[in-house]
Amino acid sequence: MVIPACEQLTPLGGGADACVPAEVQAAFDRSCGGGSCHTDGGKAGGLALGNGEAAAAIGRASVGSALPLITIGDTRGSYLAQKMVSDPATPITGDRMPVGFQGTNADQVADVNTILGWVAGGAYADCGAGTDTGNDTGNDTGTVANGLPCDVDAVLATYCRSCHGDPPVGTVVSLLGLEDLLADAPSDPTKSLGERSVERMNADVAPMPPAPATRPSAAEIAVVADWVAAGMPAGDCTVGPGPFDVEPVCTSKKNWTGGNEEDPRMHPGVACIDCHTSMDEGPDLLVAGTVYPTGHEPDDCYGSASILVHVTDASDRTVELRTNSAGNFLLEDGEAPAGFGPPYRVEVVSDVGTRAMSSAAPHGDCNACHTQDGDDDAPGRVVLPW
Ligand code: HEC
Ligand code: HEC
Ligand code: HEC
Repeated sequence: MVIPACEQLTPLGGGADACVPAEVQAAFDRSCGGGSCHTDGGKAGGLALGNGEAAAAIGRASVGSALPLITIGDTRGSYLAQKMVSDPATPITGDRMPVGFQGTNADQVADVNTILGWVAGGAYADCGAGTDTGNDTGNDTGTVANGLPCDVDAVLATYCRSCHGDPPVGTVVSLLGLEDLLADAPSDPTKSLGERSVERMNADVAPMPPAPATRPSAAEIAVVADWVAAGMPAGDCTVGPGPFDVEPVCTSKKNWTGGNEEDPRMHPGVACIDCHTSMDEGPDLLVAGTVYPTGHEPDDCYGSASILVHVTDASDRTVELRTNSAGNFLLEDGEAPAGFGPPYRVEVVSDVGTRAMSSAAPHGDCNACHTQDGDDDAPGRVVLPW
């Protein structure tokens, strides 16, 4: 993740620690500086967070607790982070922040994850120690045994590791292998992360994964719950390579050779909407993309036919699209419900299972991000459930 420089901030004696990445400040501005809340004018709780002021909260004493407001690298030692999590490790005064937080509000959830990830010590290229975490969204589990039974591993891989990967995104913990699940939960060291994972998957309030991500089914939760109840015995699942660990290959061995000939099978893998818009040709597509069997297939290579793609729009309406013989799926403007629009929640469904995008897609040109190597933090192609 590369964040543009945050030169607008004056470090407060904390050196690099006092740097607030632009993306994080934007999340504060949206979720905390609004209305008469934490702005210069209306410092609720004596605290201004909007308009580039979040840096002032680093290391500062809080009004509601003995904890400082923000200690970078320590969410449990940051009162502000504890005010934002669903089950704080420290008693908090007043309501959970941001005011009116709803787990179903994708924008709020994204802002909270951004802020918590920053407090947790997330790496930002422009703020000190940051290293570029590239496109690694935690799906690559490598080819080594991670100590988990395969069925447990599959649930965590599908629903959890886009955030609880290596490095974790917006959270403090990784859920990659047996050792991680046996470790104490930061929020409650009397419990293991395995136990907390089961509690949070079943939780009515603030479930894991957080909305709007697709939750595991009762049967999938039971797989993990039964294993945790049995004392988390080591499994011998040799984790095979994930779809994004596979070398670039055109699995279908079939390529589109028709150029810009009008055909819904055209240019699999290439950003459809971007080209139609810039050439001002072809139909108006709201959503379009290509599903592949592996993560890094080249442009114009045919993908997987007859796979379902569910797209749910900002008003909670879901359309079901099916890939054609080139692996392409598309939703023409004229065929969509009136006003169908982003952000979209998406999942790819096959007989094997579901692969969901945990964050919401800001627009429907799937292949624009899901390029061969992955753009905009995407891990690579839109792939089939493995
Ligand atoms: C979209 C990102 C995201 C996904 C996907 C996600 N989590 Fe989380 N998780 C978070 C964030 C952010 C926190 C910290 C805030 C909180 O506790 O609500 C968290 C906290 C947790 C905690 C609390 C750790 C503690 O200290 O008690 C557990 C356990 C957990 N997640 C388990 C899971 C499991 C199991 C899954 C998959 C079924 C999952 N999460 C999927 C973002 C995510
Ligand atoms: C490089 C530019 C380019 C890309 C990439 C592209 N298209 Fe097109 N598309 C066109 C042009 C140009 C036309 C109009 C051709 C014509 O009218 O002869 C068109 C027409 C179409 C049509 C109308 C076909 C018909 O039978 O009327 C469909 C459907 C379509 N594109 C789907 C897609 C999909 C799906 C993708 C992505 C997987 C895509 N296109 C990618 C340029 C592109
Ligand atoms: C702005 C860029 C962007 C767009 C547009 C986008 N995605 Fe994604 N997608 C991502 C990122 C980043 C991730 C990894 C993090 C996550 O899951 O939220 C991802 C993850 C996914 C995943 C899960 C990854 C995995 O482990 O297999 C699926 C499935 C997916 N996207 C499908 C789609 C579909 C279908 C569309 C079009 C409707 C789409 N995406 C549009 C950026 C994008």
